Amino acid sequence: MELVKTLEKDDFVVQTEYYTSPPKWHLGHVSWIYEVVLSKLNTDYEFYSKEFSEYLNSYYRQFGEPRDKGKRGIMSRPTVEQVLEYFQTVNQLVTDFLKKNLISNKANQLLTMGMHHECQHQELLVYDLQHLLADEYRPVKKNSPPTPSKVTPESVAIGGGLYTMGYNGDNFCYDIELPEHKIFLNNYRIDAFPITNEQYLSFIEDGGYDDFKYWLSDGWDAVKKNNWHAPMYWEKENGRWMLRNFLGKRKINPNEPVCYVSFYEADAYCRWAGKRLPSEAEWEKAACWDEEKMRKTIFPWGNEEPNEKNANLLESYLWNTSEIGSYPESRSSYGCYQMIGDVWEWTSSEYIGYPGFKTGFSEYNDKWFTNQKVLRGGSFGTPRMSIRGSYRNFFRLDERWLFSGFRCAQDS
Ligand SMILES: [Fe+2]
Repeated sequence: MELVKTLEKDDFVVQTEYYTSPPKWHLGHVSWIYEVVLSKLNTDYEFYSKEFSEYLNSYYRQFGEPRDKGKRGIMSRPTVEQVLEYFQTVNQLVTDFLKKNLISNKANQLLTMGMHHECQHQELLVYDLQHLLADEYRPVKKNSPPTPSKVTPESVAIGGGLYTMGYNGDNFCYDIELPEHKIFLNNYRIDAFPITNEQYLSFIEDGGYDDFKYWLSDGWDAVKKNNWHAPMYWEKENGRWMLRNFLGKRKINPNEPVCYVSFYEADAYCRWAGKRLPSEAEWEKAACWDEEKMRKTIFPWGNEEPNEKNANLLESYLWNTSEIGSYPESRSSYGCYQMIGDVWEWTSSEYIGYPGFKTGFSEYNDKWFTNQKVLRGGSFGTPRMSIRGSYRNFFRLDERWLFSGFRCAQDS
């Protein structure tokens, strides 16, 4: 509710692209998923309204034929007021359930998943608010960015061998982060920082977007079809690249991680630089493995929850990436920084289930095991409670309205 507190009523209804959703839809959909959870815990549960369920079902065919995603913004009914009332009603139902019931394992698991699902939609809502309003959005809270120390982009060497990948903590994780399994890695190097605007600008100025030789065939088609010349939200003004986002229209800051790039662009940059994207196993080992202590941690700095000193996440309220060198305390044992927060990092890995994968919630994660790439680490739009080193996000290869960047790897 804090995210939408300063919106005008008109803002709630608009869908700017087929891949965004209106704010009122996000609010209603989050509540609808809680209704789905309640219905799985109580067979007598009656849904609030058939009409709401039809509008708010994203893609769960077990609950009927979902509506066309691109047309969520053409509906003026249910009204904003009605959706807000629905949101409060379902919140109350969940609260009552938690108060009345001795929580079973199943209920605990499903309701926790409902909350993590809500986190995912908070982040999607932030992407959509940027697309809809950019600097016309007035956040309830906005902090000043941390002061960066001077650093130079470099890479670190990591020894290969068998690495045990996947979540190994005692708290919540999604089914797709399990089971832990061994994977063999060759020796490799990985960048200590995400690729910056300055580095990416060299690629642009060297004709990166004009030469097919850097691009996958589908990527080159996307460049031509979409007329890409730079990351999303970049505009050229009097020969200079500007970026327009929540902070307004500004000159490109050379030291901020590049953001709003697709998998294709990340991949093309790497080829231009004579490097490649890391696989998700390489990324995870660089983030979470401590070679000296022979242990895997939940975060690069250890097992303590993120705070404003080690990660730029939604509750940092910066509404932007922070310059490299801003988070000395984010250091992983191998010497990588800013792996959690700032930008989601594209990897070369296909989004599929790990060997031995078992579904935890049918139709949630598992029906997307095709034509998507994995991103790791979270962004400045990711709620703090929802991120960890083993978290696997996934998007299609040409999507770039999300807060996505990358770092490079190479064989060594
Ligand atoms: Fe959803």
